[in-house]
Amino acid sequence: MERIACLFIGYLFGMFQTSYLIGKYHHMDIRQYGSGNAGTTNALRTLGKKAGAMTLIGDMLKCVIAILVVDAVFKNQYGDILPLLGMYTAAGCVLGHNFPIYLKFRGGKGIAASAGMLLALDWRVFLICAVIFIGLVAVTRYVSLGSMAAYVGALICFIAFGAAGSYGMDPSHVVEMNVIMALMTALAIYRHRANISRLMNGTENKLGAKKR
Ligand code: G3P
Repeated sequence: MERIACLFIGYLFGMFQTSYLIGKYHHMDIRQYGSGNAGTTNALRTLGKKAGAMTLIGDMLKCVIAILVVDAVFKNQYGDILPLLGMYTAAGCVLGHNFPIYLKFRGGKGIAASAGMLLALDWRVFLICAVIFIGLVAVTRYVSLGSMAAYVGALICFIAFGAAGSYGMDPSHVVEMNVIMALMTALAIYRHRANISRLMNGTENKLGAKKR
């Protein structure tokens, strides 16, 4: 029951669509422009650096806040599995971001929200993934490639740190946390399927290039 509650709380926070709201402020629907994605990269591409930065911060923060709320609500009763509940909350947040009910389930890809999850759950994973992301984007200029690689990197980190006993949970809860993370990684890659096609045929948008 507490897992469902975390998914639900995360979903509510995840529906706060920063780029969509900024787009509306500019009298446009960001999903009709650029890549059509309601996210940081497309906000940067179509609305500029300030909108991109605001989207990144807003979408990260919503996941951080959702996890903090869950920690506060459940810490007395479920203090021994807070990292697992945080993962459920983040999964809900990504689902709310990707499939917001009030936008007919057409949202973003959940990358900035997931970065917020890393920050809230394990700053070491956040730092490692930030290095992967920034390094790959600096070299290739492909944000999508950096996002997917960082996601896979996060999955590997959670498995490794979980196995090393970092989260203070019993093994079955560590496995459960890894399963949720693996599903989130699969979803993130699935949400990038159009990017993957473009990467393979050499037409993916590069950071700083004009929108395609
Ligand atoms: O944050 C999503 C990013 O990985 C790709 O965005 O707009 O280029 O599809 P976009």
